[in-house]
Amino acid sequence: MSKISLAVEVAGLRLRSPLMNAAGVLGMSPPILKRVYDSGAGAVVTKSIGPAPRTGHPNPTLVRVSCGALNAMGLPNPGAEYFVDEIKALKEMGVPVVASFFGGSVEEFAEVASTLSKAGADALELNASCPNVQEELGMLASDAGNVEKVTATVREETRLPLFVKLSPNVTDIKEIAMAAERGGADAITAVNTLKGMAIDINFKRPILTNTTGGLSGPAVKPVALRCVWEVAEAVDIPVIGCGGVTTWEDAIEYLLAGASALEIGTAVMTHGFEVYGQVNEGIRRYLEMNGFSGIKEVVGLAHQIGEEQDSRADRCSIRV
Ligand SMILES: Cc1cc2nc3c(=O)[nH]c(=O)nc-3n(C[C@H](O)[C@H](O)[C@H](O)COP(=O)(O)O)c2cc1C
Repeated sequence: MSKISLAVEVAGLRLRSPLMNAAGVLGMSPPILKRVYDSGAGAVVTKSIGPAPRTGHPNPTLVRVSCGALNAMGLPNPGAEYFVDEIKALKEMGVPVVASFFGGSVEEFAEVASTLSKAGADALELNASCPNVQEELGMLASDAGNVEKVTATVREETRLPLFVKLSPNVTDIKEIAMAAERGGADAITAVNTLKGMAIDINFKRPILTNTTGGLSGPAVKPVALRCVWEVAEAVDIPVIGCGGVTTWEDAIEYLLAGASALEIGTAVMTHGFEVYGQVNEGIRRYLEMNGFSGIKEVVGLAHQIGEEQDSRADRCSIRV
């Protein structure tokens, strides 16, 4: 019996599976990202790359909390030029690469996007949403005008598929997603971490040097899923779900909410690289058992069924 294909097309990028790693959780070393690909991902996402070398925040930068992790890495990275060879190394190994990047100003975002496009990345993910850094633009994803401006400027620098990664730490994520779409984004990644903190009761002070950090893992899933749901209703471009995906059931929820692909981060720390293969197999079994012939048929289905129920309820309601 032939297996159902898990292939998807996201913003013109053809992937053999809808799964990718979430930026930063596994760093940027090509052999490690190759393991993600070999474990079943359709593409790998690099750590967010900035214009210049950056040390990030001093330790402690990562702490386990119930149902997840809190991190305040502060975007440590060796700068875009260094990444050129890393991207080339991944491409030589046959791995599709999504290069995640950030800047402190509109010009820096454009400059890094240009360098990474020339390095041979297959797609770019504009990180508009790190909650742990304060740059000229602040947390970019909290301002629709800035998101549109940066996206439009980057759009002029590259023809590659451009994902814009948003933050859950905003009042109305739909408004920000629409701004990214107007700016020329090809897909929205929803979402980055949720701002939080933890206190050491013996030292009587915040555990993270940065005081606050970004919450990831199962704890954020209901929030991230709601973000995907809202963004999928607000824009016509594909949505990539991210936040707490650990099991195939989580993945199916995200697909039903409107995600066309998924990024898995913290679950690799708790479940190992096998998580990609396990989630792939679970999705495949779900498709088979429910009579679907591919992922596309499931994407956003919960919205349609919701609408059908609403219209049935309308027909049944007694009007006075
Ligand atoms: C240690 C760590 C480092 C991260 N670094 C980045 C990063 O460089 N760029 C980025 O866009 N997101 C970064 N994130 C956020 C993740 O990509 C992801 O959006 C978030 O963790 C939610 O997904 P998860 O629950 O599957 O981990 C980081 C998360 C963690 C835990």
